[in-house]
Amino acid sequence: GLPPRVRIHEVGARDGLQNEKATVPTEVKAEFIRRLAASGLTTIEATSFVHPKWVPQLADAEALFPQVSDIEGVHLPVLVPNERGLDRALDLGARRIAVFGSATETFAQKNLNRTVAESLAMFEPVVTRAKDAKVHVRGYLSMCFGDPWEGAVPVPQVVATAKALLDLGCDELSLGDTIGVATPGHVQALLSALNDEGVPTDTIGVHFHDTYGQALSNTLAALQRGVTTVDASAGGLGGCPYAKSATGNLATEDLVWMLDGLGIETGVDLAALTATSVWLAEQLGRPSPSRTVRALSPT
Ligand code: HMG
Ligand code: MG
Repeated sequence: GLPPRVRIHEVGARDGLQNEKATVPTEVKAEFIRRLAASGLTTIEATSFVHPKWVPQLADAEALFPQVSDIEGVHLPVLVPNERGLDRALDLGARRIAVFGSATETFAQKNLNRTVAESLAMFEPVVTRAKDAKVHVRGYLSMCFGDPWEGAVPVPQVVATAKALLDLGCDELSLGDTIGVATPGHVQALLSALNDEGVPTDTIGVHFHDTYGQALSNTLAALQRGVTTVDASAGGLGGCPYAKSATGNLATEDLVWMLDGLGIETGVDLAALTATSVWLAEQLGRPSPSRTVRALSPT
């Protein structure tokens, strides 16, 4: 069966905007987040406290976060790779953070300048200190299905890294198909393997990029396996600057269209969300790649 309700973890302001060539003004980002909240999204990833040279698009995190942190009724998780990032996030009162690991060695090097083991060691004090401060911790795991340099990623390798992230104390795990190569059978095989290892399904979220047009099918496959947290990006914005061939995430509008049709509650007003993506596309100077946004917006 399918769940009655899905929690959407909106990543457009982070995963989406981190990949834009043009730097989006801080005020536009703040307005984007306010509009996302007004459309009914309750978990909105706001920005990243990473090295500003690594992701210049999000170098304004200190200026942005205080502009949105007073929005009522929303969680605003932020990405934090290390203790320096945690200090920056805690100084601004962040209550939810995400560390981000990789299932493959190549991507760990490209994204974090560390081996997989070194990156877990880097996260360890971050998670411990965050938990001590009663801050909620998400653990992202990238390259769960395929890696642009290493090819297909063996399921046991993914399971081992997923368990290592949870063992650090992460409250939830987001399985990333960073380059969008997964297909539904592969998704179900990974979820079964995690289930066999005793990982509770309610700690798992799915994070699909839509490179090969599989993101919605993969999401449905995950819902059929009991997953109820789905990452998506308004308008289908997104990608990853350190993963060649990563394109936009599953568009939140495409997801909401499917969930509305299935009678699954999200709390999101699709018209308001679509209007937000159309507005942002105007700011960015190019149309949203989301099929649902295009279908619902008059030209
Ligand atoms: P490094 O060069 O190894 O850093 O980068 P370091 O630890 O050697 O430190 C060097 C200098 O950077 C030091 O300054 C630090 O203080 C400073 P110095 O002492 O030389 O003056 N520094 C920082 N400054 C500000 N904020 C910080 C910070 N950390 C160090 N947090 C590092 C290592 C992890 C910092 C770097 O690799 C990095 O920032 N990587 C981030 C990459 C990134 O954000 N990628 C995109 C997000 S992941 C993603 O998109 C995938 C996802 O969507 C899921 C999926 O799709 O699969 C989540
Ligand atoms: Mg991503």
